[in-house]
Amino acid sequence: MHVAIIMDGNGRWAAARGWPRLAGHRAGGEAVRRSVEAAGALDVDVLTLYAFSSDNWRRPAEETSGLLRLFEQYLRSEPAKCLEKGVRINVIGRRDRLGAPLVSAIESAERITAAARGLWLRVAVDYSSRDAILSAAERARGLAPLTRERFGALLAQASHSQGSAPEVDLLIRTGGEQRLSDFLLWECAYAELFFLDKMWPDFEAADLEACLKDFRSRSRRFGALPVAAA
Ligand code: IPE
Ligand code: IPE
Ligand code: MG
Repeated sequence: MHVAIIMDGNGRWAAARGWPRLAGHRAGGEAVRRSVEAAGALDVDVLTLYAFSSDNWRRPAEETSGLLRLFEQYLRSEPAKCLEKGVRINVIGRRDRLGAPLVSAIESAERITAAARGLWLRVAVDYSSRDAILSAAERARGLAPLTRERFGALLAQASHSQGSAPEVDLLIRTGGEQRLSDFLLWECAYAELFFLDKMWPDFEAADLEACLKDFRSRSRRFGALPVAAA
């Protein structure tokens, strides 16, 4: 079971309270902790969280540096707890535009939790699905025959994913917008989509549980006929 979440709405959540956007991102960090814990308890195998898109560099430097600082704090404070709970941390996306201390925090979080065998937590930072696909296509040059599986492995290499992630089963976006914003375009081919009006800092374990319950009631056909008709 692969759940992916576009964690949107931190800025609006803060603005509604008259607070700076960064306060929203800080509250968003708490929602991440809750969700990781809930995902583990709900038997999710892979959780991919969209934390910072490559297009988010277009925001003011004050916000991007604040966000990345929060992310670094998370990576420094969580690994021991994660390992205890069997959570393996893996940061996907580009690393060449991140500061050295953040890259070292990423590498150390991945190293510390490498042996965890429970939830595979992938956090997307400086991530663009189109760029990952382009980079995988570059790597695929001259490789024949190129299958979906092989391409998936190249995609993983191109984005620092520790192995090919299974296709996304369930994609959730909070914050009310109904778009993908360049997230997991290849992996979401048959994902079930859930768009929630709630802002990300308000996301609770019960919301994830409700999405999973609804997901189980959906009829996934992958182009074939429903099971009964077939
Ligand atoms: C999501 O919240 C977090 C990131 C994109 C980094 P936003 O910061 O996009 O919040 P809104 O959409 O402006 O409310
Ligand atoms: C998508 O949210 C990226 C993350 C949640 C990290 P954005 O707020 O950046 O997306 P757009 O600009 O509304 O499409
Ligand atoms: Mg947004």
